[in-house]
Amino acid sequence: MEKFVKEILVSPEAIAQKVAQLGQTITADYCGEELVLICVLKGAMVFAADLMRQIDLPIILDTIVASSYGNSTESSGEVIIKQDIKTNIKDKQVLVVDDIVDTGYTLHLLCEKLRQRGPKSLKSCTFLDKPSRRVVDFAPDYVGYEIPDAFVIGYGLDYNEQYRALPYVGIIKEEYIH
Ligand code: IMP
Ligand code: MG
Repeated sequence: MEKFVKEILVSPEAIAQKVAQLGQTITADYCGEELVLICVLKGAMVFAADLMRQIDLPIILDTIVASSYGNSTESSGEVIIKQDIKTNIKDKQVLVVDDIVDTGYTLHLLCEKLRQRGPKSLKSCTFLDKPSRRVVDFAPDYVGYEIPDAFVIGYGLDYNEQYRALPYVGIIKEEYIH
């Protein structure tokens, strides 16, 4: 384990098992239909890359960059799309994939904005969920793991742009947060 990690919450094996399970569920739920998978950059790129290969459906992949105002460990009630998708999602089945839902602002507001474009359906999938931190009334449709209120890194998740490449999800030691 890396020196800046206090505890491993989700091991590489647990990640693989959960992603396979989510892929099976999503494949069954959309049964043969084409899916537009929108990866919320950058945090979700590792999860989305794994997940899409576990979904046995025709997939159109797109990416979006959202920015919620706030500091490095807390977001606030406003979200802007900094880089939009290129796909026209009108009448499409859309799945928005994110790394983690914390207060809920980012994914909730992003889904609201995308819904205004008239998709046939729009659901959300997050690898991690911290329900105890929720500020807005938002429940993602697919959740990998619920985790306690701690700041986590790895598997795409960063602290100040570091640690995204760790193959597991871990809690960062306090002394590395500044
Ligand atoms: P929310 O808008 O508060 O739900 O926050 C969502 C975004 O904040 C996520 O997409 C992450 O980018 C970031 N975030 C929230 N909690 C964590 C964490 O524990 N580690 C790393 N990033 C986090
Ligand atoms: Mg994010």
